[in-house]
Amino acid sequence: MGIRLGDQAPNFTADTTEGTIDFHQWKAGSWAVLFSHPADFTPVCTTELGRTAALKEEFARRGVKVIAVSVDPVGSHRSWAPDIAEVGGTELNFPIIADPDRTVSQLYDMIHPGEGDTSTVRSVFIIDPANRVRLTLTYPKSVGRNFGEILRVIDALQLTDRAPVSTPVDWAPGDRIIVSPAMPTEEARQRFEDVEEVRPYLRWARQPA
Ligand code: BEZ
Repeated sequence: MGIRLGDQAPNFTADTTEGTIDFHQWKAGSWAVLFSHPADFTPVCTTELGRTAALKEEFARRGVKVIAVSVDPVGSHRSWAPDIAEVGGTELNFPIIADPDRTVSQLYDMIHPGEGDTSTVRSVFIIDPANRVRLTLTYPKSVGRNFGEILRVIDALQLTDRAPVSTPVDWAPGDRIIVSPAMPTEEARQRFEDVEEVRPYLRWARQPA
């Protein structure tokens, strides 16, 4: 069975472009994005890793460390790094795991045999500081991911951890939030600003700090 939301993110030791890491020690109380790509020297992957490098400050200001994985060896990752830097406009600034024996890929169920070969599909795991898996995404090899969406869901997860709220359809930071159905409207009016009751179960409010 694959990894489900709320599961403990499995730990592993792996070779990366930044040396050998123990995953839980490497993330050490931070949020983490662990994402797989099918292969080195492929076009979509080059754009995705380039974008990730360019977003370093965005991830850092949310307290998030990023790490990529593919089944190619570390020497291949290192040879590919200049292409990623040129395409993305930023030096590679996060580790890429080399997983030629498929240890990490199998642990995280990143190889989907129906998708053509024994390389990884485009999986994303967002993992919280307590090492719980909080969000998973799986894209096919032919479709590049939207890293703006990955930042958006991190913002939503961090907000909904801080306050008893949910984020509505297409929410973006600064938009109104939805008050938790467990909270009575009177209490919501004391706790949040601009509370609007549209239905007894749907109360909007201004996003709390
Ligand atoms: C790519 O990154 O462009 C790619 C990799 C594997 C299969 C299809 C596309």
